[in-house]
Amino acid sequence: MQSPNQSIKPITTQINSAGNLEIGGCDLVELADKYGTPLYVFDETTIRAMTSAYKEAFKSYPKMKMMFAAKAFMTKAICKIMEQEEFGLDLCSGGEIYTAFTSGFDMSKTLFNGNNKSYEDINLALECGVGTISADNFFELALINQIAVSKNIIVRILLRITPGIECHTHEYIQTGHLDSKFGFDLTQIDNAIELITDEYKNLNLVGLHAHIGSQIFEKKVYFDEVEVIFKELKRLKDKYILNLHEVNLGGGLGIKYTEKDKPISVYDIAETIIDSIKINSEKYGIEEPSVFIEPGRSIIGTAGVTLYTAGSSKQVPKGRKYQAVDGGMSDNARPSLYQAEYTVQIANNPEADNTEKVTIAGKHCESGDILAKDILLPEIQEGDILCFYTTGAYGYSMSSNYNRILKPAAVLVNNGKSDIIINRQTYEQLCESDIIPDSLNR
Ligand code: LLP
Repeated sequence: MQSPNQSIKPITTQINSAGNLEIGGCDLVELADKYGTPLYVFDETTIRAMTSAYKEAFKSYPKMKMMFAAKAFMTKAICKIMEQEEFGLDLCSGGEIYTAFTSGFDMSKTLFNGNNKSYEDINLALECGVGTISADNFFELALINQIAVSKNIIVRILLRITPGIECHTHEYIQTGHLDSKFGFDLTQIDNAIELITDEYKNLNLVGLHAHIGSQIFEKKVYFDEVEVIFKELKRLKDKYILNLHEVNLGGGLGIKYTEKDKPISVYDIAETIIDSIKINSEKYGIEEPSVFIEPGRSIIGTAGVTLYTAGSSKQVPKGRKYQAVDGGMSDNARPSLYQAEYTVQIANNPEADNTEKVTIAGKHCESGDILAKDILLPEIQEGDILCFYTTGAYGYSMSSNYNRILKPAAVLVNNGKSDIIINRQTYEQLCESDIIPDSLNR
């Protein structure tokens, strides 16, 4: 069965009677006019279709729990949607914890992970009632215990492990291979467990956590991940009479950015994971644990698009044609960071034939600020609205103020209605943290 991560466009995308692109019943040209550009547009129907697909796909394993990896895109409105969809949240910074907490999210359904949590981060997590902390290294075990002792509480923890599985994705977004900055090496687990048992009495170890990478197109790596973890559960059970009953498999399911991408459906991934759980719990004689997954990109990536207005253009004699837009690497760092490719359409002219090869450039003072290289499009006119698909994940969340360019607004669309979920940044907000010290006020 298909799932929304296998399509490039939000599932409500169509061409309306005005001949413009429409998402969530909203005309994209009208949205650009009303809210300005660049603009992130999120289709609520696609988000909920994906959360529903996850729930449906895993329903035959009742001990399955879903969390949304907030790093892909987080605002308070998204926290509300996740709460309604009965997803937990995977949080990885003080800022993400603060956002979830102040949105009113049920913090017992959150997990805090990351490879260098500070005293302040852990303290905030515990003050806000974060449900579980994934301990990444020895330093953190000591720190979490120390803070738990000072608060006289017991903290539920997972051990983040490096399962030694390589997946075929961009090197920067692989995480589960052995030489990784994340997690305990398998050979370090015993030492960690002995410390928890003998010294860190305020830690309640409930299970293991791993994440093998992002934008994954293979099923087998998930099968193998479950196997590696279950083998460890069995070993720990035998050696320490330890019954770890929670397993977190991380996120990673890929999405379709261009026609070249062939992501697998969530139903296929679910079948693989459930098969592996059944096979390996029987093989290793362990009770089926509660299993968590924490997808980010596949929940929110396809639901989001970015609208830009076409500005200047330049034909290099005997070279490329460049078309500049009013955003760039500050609202989408992925092309310059990972050579990521996108599918683009002209929102006010979606049906015209592709007639030229063009390179879409951003407005930043940097040659590498290219959003799409050598793509085929109809001839672009100044003022056209360009729609970049699949920018919902790691677009806004990795945005910056490079060149002091303002962060765009984001709207949520549904049934012909659009609501702002992030206001466009203002110049006042841009400068609000700047201070001119007295010594310079001469
Ligand atoms: N869990 C953990 C522990 C993670 O580190 C990540 C992503 C996820 C879950 C969610 O993975 P997803 O389902 O979104 O693939 N900025 C990069 C992606 C970095 C992913 C980092 N970790 C990009 O734009 O491609």
